[in-house]
Amino acid sequence: MPDLHFSDLAASDRPFTPEEAADVAARAASRVDLDALPRTGTGEAVLLWRDEHSEGWLNTWWESRDTGYHDHDGSCVGVHVLAGRASNEALVVGTARDVRAYGAGESFSFPGSGIHRMDHDAGAVTIHVYSPPLRRIGAYELVDGRLQRVSCSPDEPSPPSPALLAALSGTAAA
Ligand SMILES: [Fe+2]
Repeated sequence: MPDLHFSDLAASDRPFTPEEAADVAARAASRVDLDALPRTGTGEAVLLWRDEHSEGWLNTWWESRDTGYHDHDGSCVGVHVLAGRASNEALVVGTARDVRAYGAGESFSFPGSGIHRMDHDAGAVTIHVYSPPLRRIGAYELVDGRLQRVSCSPDEPSPPSPALLAALSGTAAA
C-alpha cells in the first residue's frame, strides 16, 4: 500500500453526516490504485486515517464475507465500492428484506442509529468511512427465538447471523 495521505479529506470540526461520509469515501477511493493492491489471502482492512471525528478503512474482500446484522453504536457509515459488488440491507421487520446491491463507482450511506447487514462478493474492494470513529459494534442474532445483541470490539469482524437471516427471509417469502 503506497503512503497515501487522507487528512485533508477527513478534516472537519464535527462528525460527518451519512451523506458526507459517503462523499469522503468516494473521494478517498479516487486516490487508491487498484492494481497496486496485494491480492493474497482472504483480504484485509487497512486503516487510512482515524481522527477525532472519523476513520476510513480500505477493505479488500478476496473471499466473500457476510457481516451479519449489526449496528455501529452510533457511528454512521459511508461506503464506496471501488471494485466488485457489495450489497447492503437495513434490518426490516414485517416486510420483505430490503437488499440493495452496489457496484464499482457507487456509494451509499447508513445512519448511526440503524441496524444493517452487508454481503461483500469475492473480489470486492470498498472504502468505509465511519463517523464518529467506531467505538463498539453490536452484533444481532436470534437465540431460541429471542433477538440478542452482543457488543463486539470494532477490531474484530462481526459474526454472520444465520438464524436471524433465515427468519427475515421467511418473512420475505410469506
Ligand atoms: Fe456496518
